[in-house]
Amino acid sequence: MEIITSKAALTERVNELIASKKNIGFVPTMGALHNGHLQLVKRCVSENDVCIVSVFVNPTQFNDKHDLEVYPRNIEADAAKLESVGCAIVFTPTPDEMYTKEEQEKVFEFDFAGLDKVMEGKFRPGHFNGVVQVVSKLFTLVRPTRAYFGEKDFQQLAIIRRMVDVMGFEIEIVGCPIVREESGLALSSRNALLSEEERKTAAHIHAVLKESVQFLSQTSLEELRNAVVNAIDAKEGLRTEYFSIVDGKSLRELDNWNQSEDIVGCITVFCGKVRLIDNIRYK
Ligand code: PAF
Repeated sequence: MEIITSKAALTERVNELIASKKNIGFVPTMGALHNGHLQLVKRCVSENDVCIVSVFVNPTQFNDKHDLEVYPRNIEADAAKLESVGCAIVFTPTPDEMYTKEEQEKVFEFDFAGLDKVMEGKFRPGHFNGVVQVVSKLFTLVRPTRAYFGEKDFQQLAIIRRMVDVMGFEIEIVGCPIVREESGLALSSRNALLSEEERKTAAHIHAVLKESVQFLSQTSLEELRNAVVNAIDAKEGLRTEYFSIVDGKSLRELDNWNQSEDIVGCITVFCGKVRLIDNIRYK
């Protein structure tokens, strides 16, 4: 496995691969890799000639400096995991390699047709601008045929799909199912910040969401939404930031179950100081 840290060296390798008619699969990550990432990489390896993974903690998508500072980093462990699942190239630039000074200071404002104004976008202003800034740059460098994203970041996936349409990237965006611990807790790099006790507490999030599916036909959307929030907040150590039941494509918040055939509940919960996200499909 090759480890590349400069844009110039990556461009050279990508040029060679494209000249020899290899198709490239790409998995962008911020490192601190867990089994969820490795599932994306395994799928990428099996569906493409060459798999490239980026490991880059992107400063422009963090609106909270503290969150950026404590974000777990361990490139040696990440590289070993990537090698074990057949990744061919890891691209791990520094922020100064990735961005000019101006780009780090002022992120170009993308238009997401409102997709970025709800949920994560509402609570983390500017977050998706940073995500699209880095992913569009990475797509331009890596020139993949397919790129793989986890469905845990449901809103991010919807925004990346829109970005690809609007910017005209000829890249197939592959959404991959959430990978969970045995307890039901969705795998996330942030889980590394949870204590053993908090990890058990956090498993309650998925348990409540999963249980809520069976009440779909008996309760109004509003009642179900309140019931989920109350059940999660009743557990000591958990606090819901938002729980939105939305149309899976437009991310428009819904009032009743008949408004869409594609309905997803997206939640963010603080477990102690750690912010966790998850979602559940209702229809
Ligand atoms: O999902 C993530 O880890 C990040 O948002 C991504 C897509 C790698 C961009 O930094």
